[in-house]
Amino acid sequence: MSESYTIAVDGPAAAGKGTLSKALAAHYGFGHLDTGLLYRAVGAKMLDGAAPVEAAQNLSPEDLARDDLRGPEVAQAASKVAVIADVRAALVDFQRAFARRAGGAVLDGRDIGTVICPYAQVKFFVTASAEVRARRRFLELAAAGKVITLDEVLGDVKARDERDMNRAEAPLRPAPDAILIDTSDLSIEEALAKAIEVIEARREAGETLA
Ligand code: CDP
Repeated sequence: MSESYTIAVDGPAAAGKGTLSKALAAHYGFGHLDTGLLYRAVGAKMLDGAAPVEAAQNLSPEDLARDDLRGPEVAQAASKVAVIADVRAALVDFQRAFARRAGGAVLDGRDIGTVICPYAQVKFFVTASAEVRARRRFLELAAAGKVITLDEVLGDVKARDERDMNRAEAPLRPAPDAILIDTSDLSIEEALAKAIEVIEARREAGETLA
């Protein structure tokens, strides 16, 4: 069995974590877990009337496959349930087991490098200005047929960042050993190249990939 190798990707809302993580996972043949989806699924169940902690303790694959998880209403609900310590605790084991899977894993979220996988071999903190992030998310939502204004998306992004950074449990912040990647002026290819460069430098320094 090959050893596990974990890449942690954290950062604020719509910074490009998911895109970078998917591309890194494809490049290295690793598994990818979008941990935001777990919180979004709990948030969606809360909007349906469920109690958040119970929802987090009983998440099913169907909950994660819902097609309404990507919108801003669910995003706001996700960031509200994400402040609850027992909700976060219910999701820890699943994330850690995924991180340790044989063959390597990329996890993206808010607390991967700080709380879920402090032992990750490589940690990235992906940022971009709020305006750039809102514009990217606006274009994604518009392409998916969502009727929303750029201002509304900017408001959502800022409100979630504020809540995510200032909560008591696992607040959004870079791990001390995280590598910062500001994607404000970078294409997807440039951000990916930068991340691969960091990983390859570590490998050359003696670390092994799974
Ligand atoms: O895709 P985007 O960056 O907009 O959001 P997401 O990664 O899907 O996360 C939605 C919300 O879940 C965030 O605003 C956080 O409040 C919460 N979350 C968290 O607390 N911890 C994580 N590891 C991932 C997401």
